[in-house]
Amino acid sequence: MKNATLHQFEVFAAIARTGSFTKAAEELFLTQPTVSQQMKQLTKAIGVPLYEQIGRKIYLTEAGQAVLQASENIGLCLDQLQEVIADLQGLKKGNLRLATITTGKYFVPRLLGEFRQEYPGISISLQIGNRQQILDRLANNLDDLYFLGKPPSNLDINIRHFLENPLVVIASRQHPLVNEKKISLERIIQEPLIMRESGSGTRMAVEEFFNENRLQMNVEMEISSNEAIKQAVYGGLGISILSLYSLALEGVHGPLAVLDVEGFPLQKHWYIVYQKSKQLSIVAQAFLDYLFTHDEAVSIAQIFRKPL
Ligand code: PGA
Repeated sequence: MKNATLHQFEVFAAIARTGSFTKAAEELFLTQPTVSQQMKQLTKAIGVPLYEQIGRKIYLTEAGQAVLQASENIGLCLDQLQEVIADLQGLKKGNLRLATITTGKYFVPRLLGEFRQEYPGISISLQIGNRQQILDRLANNLDDLYFLGKPPSNLDINIRHFLENPLVVIASRQHPLVNEKKISLERIIQEPLIMRESGSGTRMAVEEFFNENRLQMNVEMEISSNEAIKQAVYGGLGISILSLYSLALEGVHGPLAVLDVEGFPLQKHWYIVYQKSKQLSIVAQAFLDYLFTHDEAVSIAQIFRKPL
């Protein structure tokens, strides 16, 4: 039965509808020998007679009735499929699966807001994790697009440079170093530091920086959430080094201050990556195009009109 083709079902349905090979041939712009040939092959593929010819008229056997029913169902399915594809092409529906490192939560949702307004029928999921968790998702091909810092070198991926991501030293507004200029690294390492967990890209970048400068950080506490780190800094537990984006809502003149430290901000970048072998869905491609025409809206310059 697997040898039966869509075309044969279509011809068969036309014969059943018109009751005649000649009329079916006319309807489908085929020659009569082609129609007869197609029916011979369909009968062979199904394995039992599908019709009887009495005089000039064609009558369906019971098996023929069942094949007709199946042909109609196939036709219906194809019509529905055509509608779904048309909707996808018009971006009326579809799924968008995104994953971002934790700092992405300060800008990705903002971008999604406007995108969603343009395409309200699209369902969006946004997974948030640290660098290691996002890399694991990428390796397992769980999402369409991934936002992260330094792209991994061991995966076959497409990499698109997105935004700047300055890492800054933050302290509570009451901290004695707040009004100092050009604080040395030797001075800063005397302060208790609240650090992201291992597996975090922020932590990796900070460790690389201090290693390059042959300095030992004074890690007082490890916290796996940017927001909890901000609260701890605000509570006077120590200073921290986070993406400037983590201050996107309160700005740099609020309860947390950015310290003027030698070598800072560390100029890092965000990237959008996806598997090279992955055929991006229409929705994911549309979102990718959208990102690069709307990135200005979430740039440092735009979020912090006057950064530091
Ligand atoms: P993370 O992300 O610190 O949340 O892992 C930052 C990055 O990967 O650059």
